Amino acid sequence: MISKNKNIHPIFDNILKRVDKEKLLNQRSIVVWITGLSGSGKTTIAKNLELELHKAGYLTKLLDGDNVRTGINNNLKFTVEDRKENIRRIAEVSKLFMQGGVILINCFISPTKEIREQAKEIIGHKDFFEIFVNTPLEVCEQRDEKGLYAKARAGLIKNFTGIDSPYENPENPDVEIKTSEVSIDECVKKILDKLLLRIEYKND
Ligand code: ADX
Repeated sequence: MISKNKNIHPIFDNILKRVDKEKLLNQRSIVVWITGLSGSGKTTIAKNLELELHKAGYLTKLLDGDNVRTGINNNLKFTVEDRKENIRRIAEVSKLFMQGGVILINCFISPTKEIREQAKEIIGHKDFFEIFVNTPLEVCEQRDEKGLYAKARAGLIKNFTGIDSPYENPENPDVEIKTSEVSIDECVKKILDKLLLRIEYKND
């Protein structure tokens, strides 16, 4: 007998698997997770990285605060709980893309170890490639491209990362980038040196 409560969300996509998509695209899917302070240069690095991967024939998708917090996550703010939910949804969405063979490039502050661990658990440790954009707070604040640090210092924005909300450095990132010391091209090269080995399709 068919139970009403069973299989209410049957999985129809099991004819074609992730590996079939990867084979079609001639790439291994992965989530490149870029963490760092606001204004650290995450999105700039991600855009340049995406361009290089695109030129080399890889299919990618870039997610950042601009396209996620204005759309699917436009009901979330910057409390600890909302940041957690922000990252949870992003990780789940990334997983869906990844199952379609796509390489994700995600740029989110994702400020705490707990938040990043949650993303890693959802995505899977072996598919999580962590990049720490280690730009000192003073440099981010001096750049202040969006004028948000000045507003946070003036008390006009509450819970601002690095000012009155914490940022915990990752302990063991796959790549650490110091944008205040090296050029964007060099940052991208450093990432590609490791990443290309992970996304190369191997027939095994
Ligand atoms: S996260 O902490 O939940 O990962 P996310 O990366 O999505 O943050 O969004 C960060 C961007 O939102 C910043 O680059 C900045 O432009 C903007 N922003 C607005 N308010 C804040 C705030 N209180 N703290 C940090 N970033 C903020």
